[in-house]
Amino acid sequence: MDSPTTQLISRRDALIVGAATAAAVSASTAPPASAQTAAPAAAAGGSRMKLTLNVNGTAQALDLDTRTTLLDALREHLHLTGTKKGCDHGQCGACTVIVDGRRINSCLTLAVMHEGAQVTTIEGLGTPQGMHPLQAAFVRHDGYQCGYCTPGQICSAVGVIDEVRRGVPSHVSADLTARPILSAEELRERMSGNICRCGAYSNIVDAITEVAGSKA
Ligand code: FES
Ligand code: FES
Repeated sequence: MDSPTTQLISRRDALIVGAATAAAVSASTAPPASAQTAAPAAAAGGSRMKLTLNVNGTAQALDLDTRTTLLDALREHLHLTGTKKGCDHGQCGACTVIVDGRRINSCLTLAVMHEGAQVTTIEGLGTPQGMHPLQAAFVRHDGYQCGYCTPGQICSAVGVIDEVRRGVPSHVSADLTARPILSAEELRERMSGNICRCGAYSNIVDAITEVAGSKA
């Protein structure tokens, strides 16, 4: 029978052999130092492209790094800062704009994918002097507190009302072939991609319901 000392040495030997093997595998699979520095350098270069976006009725010529999101093109290049950057990951809806009649998260799409597209931002929906009906309803119903999510909420609501009018079903529509009714359940589902950290949801529902012309 082995002594405790022999057993200890055996375990230590096994650990040393295991560690040496792992190091050897790691060394053989790791890219050479030159390759490790080459990848970031290549990524830093990028490429540029000229494009035209029709934003709020005006043709805008842009020359952008192809990696520029539509959100950054609007905010950083066209200085339309009404569209907000919340998460920059498609999770909050603050960046919602309307592109060719459909609401989208502008942080999740590249500007160069929308050559010639019609883009509507909150600035294109109304002005303080001539508000869009949804903007006026949000004011009437106190549908915001800090207001950061509000441009995205209103652009999204414009899209929701249009989707219901066109008969587009949602996840909670009982009958996919029937014309959807903008119930509170439908409205909450369709607006679920727009987060409000101030929790103004019930007033937002009231505002949209008033404009949509149905009781929620
Ligand atoms: S900033 Fe686009 S979804 Fe949050
Ligand atoms: S009003 Fe503040 S996040 Fe919605």
